[in-house]
Amino acid sequence: MTSLQALALPLALNFLSLVHAVPGGPWKGWRAGKGCCIPHGDSPTIITEDTTTIIPRQFSCLSTGTQSTINALFSSGGANTIVRLCPGVTIPITAPVVFTAPGQELSTQGYPTDSTRATILIQPGSTVTSAIRGNWQNNIKVLNIQVDGNRPNAGYLGGDALLEMGGGTEGQTVSHTVVKNTRSWSCVHFIGSGQDNNPCRQATVTFNEVGPCGHEGVDSATGNGLWADGLSIECKDTTVTDNTITGATDGGIVIFGSPGSHILRNTIVSSSSSGLQFGGINMVDPTWGANYSGVVVSDNTITGGPGSFINLGIGMGSQVWSNPHPETNFGQVTVTNNVFTGNVGFSIVMNGWLGGLTVTGNSVSGVTTPSSSFASAAGCGSVQQAEFAASHQLVYYPAGVMGSSGPNNIQSQFTALATNASNWLCLTDPLPPLPDSKSFAPNTLSVDASTSRVVSLRDFHIQVQGDGNVVGIDTTGGVWTVKWASSRYSSACGTNGAQCFLAFGIDGNFVMYDGNGPLWASGTDGRGQLLTFSREAPWVTVSGNNGQTLWTIGNL
Ligand SMILES: *[C@@H]1O[C@H](CO)[C@@H](O)[C@H](O)[C@H]1NC(C)=O
Ligand SMILES: *[C@@H]1O[C@H](CO)[C@@H](O)[C@H](O)[C@H]1NC(C)=O
Repeated sequence: MTSLQALALPLALNFLSLVHAVPGGPWKGWRAGKGCCIPHGDSPTIITEDTTTIIPRQFSCLSTGTQSTINALFSSGGANTIVRLCPGVTIPITAPVVFTAPGQELSTQGYPTDSTRATILIQPGSTVTSAIRGNWQNNIKVLNIQVDGNRPNAGYLGGDALLEMGGGTEGQTVSHTVVKNTRSWSCVHFIGSGQDNNPCRQATVTFNEVGPCGHEGVDSATGNGLWADGLSIECKDTTVTDNTITGATDGGIVIFGSPGSHILRNTIVSSSSSGLQFGGINMVDPTWGANYSGVVVSDNTITGGPGSFINLGIGMGSQVWSNPHPETNFGQVTVTNNVFTGNVGFSIVMNGWLGGLTVTGNSVSGVTTPSSSFASAAGCGSVQQAEFAASHQLVYYPAGVMGSSGPNNIQSQFTALATNASNWLCLTDPLPPLPDSKSFAPNTLSVDASTSRVVSLRDFHIQVQGDGNVVGIDTTGGVWTVKWASSRYSSACGTNGAQCFLAFGIDGNFVMYDGNGPLWASGTDGRGQLLTFSREAPWVTVSGNNGQTLWTIGNL
């Protein structure tokens, strides 16, 4: 894994036109193949751009073959070769399809946009994770095909993304293409070049149908996360528009710096078959020196689907993902008119940004409330828990979003945090339904104040505190209301509270102890058979062998 991939993992956790071969547009010439690879006596599917000769001619498409067939056509055809696949065909591959010269194109004949798009399918038993490699070739195009990593049959495998594009190039295009079932960490990756004077630039990623990509959870054999991105973009001045990304599990669209890129009108939906999705659109990584200047993220729709949820709709800054980093992300960035609906834990969180944010017109009115109906914040820090409990969707830390290179314009619905809270990627699947009451037989309950939690019921929580007090709290709607308390305090609980403990003894007595001995007791020794906590009065009951009530907390 590259360091870039590692950054994409939540471990703890412009505008350009198609220059050539616009779908439906003219092609300008053709050249016969070298006779190497064309099955069934078909004429070859090699078209090359020739600016001096224009010979319109009907040409055939590739109706069978493997990656070797396509790769031989690209190699022999050179620059601007178009390999057309016939509608409906499936090309099984055991190694990548490789673009070998500038301007080459892989497409389905006639540029269909439905299920007749030809399919490149990774074969089970192979060790390939990248079906297509287009790195470091200018102006290449992947148009109107389907690329299937076949993960359900070929299996999860660490490695490069299903579509590997980018590098030191300009003008690459992936459009009207289905990309799904990546075996590795991303469905589509535009990698950076690492060269300031020759960056990945001016790519076009439009009208694609991406996903499912990855699964929730961790591989038990390797310990690797099974999740994957939809689109992972490290390419400046790039157009990422009108894509539909369904069932990505890491980030739907991860923007790695990529100054000047426009991310518009994309639809991102989490899916119950893939599970929890970490992020909708991420601007959290320090790639490109943490430079996001001129990035525009507008008119996207981010939806947490039924039976799943998206933890963080749009994450902005160095402090919001699970791997906070010391560089502060920067740049004048526009995030406007995005729509969040369904099960989204936090729609936009901003912390760790320098300079000129415009974040306006984003709508969260369609988000499911309360957030606790689809996710749990039990693993989060206290600030995140409080915001989650309040179903606050738009959250920022003002001191962590400074406008030093331009004024901030942030819509008024944002909740301003008083505390610098990092790692908002902390939500988990909801807890199973909790009971309305819970009972203990003698000698089965002993909890001290360092553990604190005695029992959790539905919207109700009972705790023993470091001051000796035992308290029952209603937590409905995330608002904590004390319903009862023992109100017997102690200063002899020890520094961590471990000397104050609550026990239902083997003799049937319910006793609170501190460092000096019993603080209070039910006095039911020899008679108590069952201790019951309830979310309604009587809150705590000790009953006898006929079920009769012997004592309640009200007797204290
Ligand atoms: C950030 O990227 C923009 C666009 O490429 C560039 O003009 C600017 O100089 C960069 N800023 C820094 C501080 O590198
Ligand atoms: C918030 O905390 C992070 C991590 O400790 C730190 O790097 C950052 O500077 C803090 N932000 C502010 C505004 O103090």
